[in-house]
Amino acid sequence: MIGRGRAPGKVILAGEHFVVHGGPAIALPVRAVRKEIEIDARLDPYDHTLELRIMDAFPEHDTLREMLVTLLGALVIPTTGEIRITVRSDLTPGAHLGSSAALAVALVRAVLDFRGLEYPDDEVARLAFELERIVHKNPSGIDNTVIALDRPIWFRKGHTPEPIACGLDATLLLADTGVASSTAEVVARVGDFRRENAERFARLIAEAEAVTTRLRAALATGDARGAGECLDHNQALLAEVGTSSPELESLIAAARAAGALGAKLTGGGGGGNAIALAAPEAAARVKSALVAAGARGLLEVPLADFAGSR
Ligand code: MEV
Repeated sequence: MIGRGRAPGKVILAGEHFVVHGGPAIALPVRAVRKEIEIDARLDPYDHTLELRIMDAFPEHDTLREMLVTLLGALVIPTTGEIRITVRSDLTPGAHLGSSAALAVALVRAVLDFRGLEYPDDEVARLAFELERIVHKNPSGIDNTVIALDRPIWFRKGHTPEPIACGLDATLLLADTGVASSTAEVVARVGDFRRENAERFARLIAEAEAVTTRLRAALATGDARGAGECLDHNQALLAEVGTSSPELESLIAAARAAGALGAKLTGGGGGGNAIALAAPEAAARVKSALVAAGARGLLEVPLADFAGSR
């Protein structure tokens, strides 16, 4: 029996980190990158050796094994027998484009497919959240949710995610610093910052909520300039809680100098990707500036693709 699952990447436009502490955030799927998983299994409740053989060289091998055992347990599927897993991925861990959440969602989909089960997307997101916790310890749930729902969302921890309109006539450029960083570590550092600076953090999270709310309105009305200002403002808040890095700052500065409407880090920060919003006529110039400033990888997400996505 074969089961197959796939999942896109994601990008957070505003509200990351503050979302862990109860603020709202906005995220989009990134369909140009994905994880694809194929499992071929012979599960046998009487065979007490579980052999997890991963076909491709794969950096998340141990994570995948732990996720799989957790998932089989949650779905009350025998965890003994033989399983071969093939993972195809163009998402790298530590780049903050949702590698571990996409791994979790693709794995859930592959196992459900293997058992001939069809679960709604919100249930896939819920199962994937349990697997995300293995990697991120204290995730808000935004990554697995946007990836499972595969549409732009407004997200607040503990609330039902809201699909949002996101039809700007602008291009989002994702520029990789090439520096991998651990979301769990940066999230823990922000937790320390909050403990040591309670009042300042309260002010920052209120400001982040206002910026994210303003961005939602700008996306809904097609106000690309206003959206860019929100990205810049959000970056200042993220830098203040210590989630930026010199490499991110240099990509962000290069994008702004080349005429981007706004730029910021995305996701965990500390490395990974910077994002820049560019009007269609400026996109090529901003892209060249990002490459000249040392971007190791570049993705383009035309936001017009999400017009009418709600
Ligand atoms: C990671 O993509 C986003 C963070 O806010 C962590 C989380 O929400 O779990 C940094």
